[in-house]
Amino acid sequence: MSRATKVVLAYSGGVDTSVCIPYLKHEWGVKEVITLAADLGQGDELEPIRKKALASGASESLVIDATEDFVKNYAFPAIQANALYENRYPLSTALARPLIAKLLVEAAEKYGADAIAHGCTGKGNDQVRFDVSIGALNPKLKILAPAREWKMSREETIAYGEKFGIPSPVKKSSPYSIDRNLLGMAIEAGILEDPWEEPPEDVFLMTKAIEQTPDTPEYIEIGFDSGIPVTINGETLAPVALIGKLNEIVGNHGVGRIDMIENRLVGIKSREIYETPAILVLMHAHRDLESLTLTADVTRYKRGIEETYSQMIYNGLWYNPLKTALDAFIQDTQKRVTGTVRVKLFKGNATIVGRKSANSLYSFDLATYGAEDEFDHKAAEGFVYVWGLPTRVWSEKNRG
Ligand code: ARG
Repeated sequence: MSRATKVVLAYSGGVDTSVCIPYLKHEWGVKEVITLAADLGQGDELEPIRKKALASGASESLVIDATEDFVKNYAFPAIQANALYENRYPLSTALARPLIAKLLVEAAEKYGADAIAHGCTGKGNDQVRFDVSIGALNPKLKILAPAREWKMSREETIAYGEKFGIPSPVKKSSPYSIDRNLLGMAIEAGILEDPWEEPPEDVFLMTKAIEQTPDTPEYIEIGFDSGIPVTINGETLAPVALIGKLNEIVGNHGVGRIDMIENRLVGIKSREIYETPAILVLMHAHRDLESLTLTADVTRYKRGIEETYSQMIYNGLWYNPLKTALDAFIQDTQKRVTGTVRVKLFKGNATIVGRKSANSLYSFDLATYGAEDEFDHKAAEGFVYVWGLPTRVWSEKNRG
């Protein structure tokens, strides 16, 4: 029985997504498989990947450079939202999924496909993000996930591919499961599955070990316009270039490593290692600039929004009406978040040491303890009396 006629497959060039091609055709009766590989700044050479899909039996092999879309429309809104899942993970992998889903749906519509396929297993978050996003963008498309159903071990998968001319990995494949894009790396599996084991140095590619970082601090200035990073040290940079440059500067000082036990949507706790230099420092700096330019009540209310927003991104709800409504709130708050933040990078730390803005709400004359003080100290007396009144009344009634 055929599951679909024409399928667009999310393709990475790895063994699993390559094996999906003959599997869809021979086991599930699919007539035609079109692959789509998205360039999100992961640094892979895409021409060999394009050719490999064709050699593995794809009728068409699409490669789409979506790096700019990724940074502008997925990473920047996340920075404006200070979106850290469980207060730590800047969602580098999670943000890429709704964008890839959008590209897959667009290709399916263009080529008249009746289904979309991906290589995710049933244990992860990515299957959720793909399936829910595809369903939101085009509910008519079927979704096929061969790796969620086939019961092949790693060796069996490789052997299956070899029958159809898919070469087994040349070098002994990495013991880790890695997802990479311009925002960073997510590293799982192998020895990392023991939460007590320190990650070996060879898992890190974007950040230096503290032992190797410069012995003198480096200061950088990051300029924001309405919550979006636009300059580094006064130089205006396009979105992709800005992230790329910042990854290098920051990674050189060993900043951007995360080692955490994370709660997946599917109920599993997993040990995750991330390397996300630029986006972590940008969120840190952005949040600091908000403390200068937003009122206390907006800032505090926004923290709650940010928590929900981060969970929604993690849990695959990018294309959801609540997410859109939260976006409207966040965008309104960002109008005044323009200014510059000075960051000191040293031995794994990114410390904010200065901030300035034409929209600053900080008033020297109110804050100073010096002679220029304009705060009306006398007015505080009545305020404190009224503020403390309910507590005083309660005490009079209840204290022995
Ligand atoms: N746990 C992270 C997330 O859900 C990253 C998963 C990335 N996948 C991988 N094969 N390392 O966003």
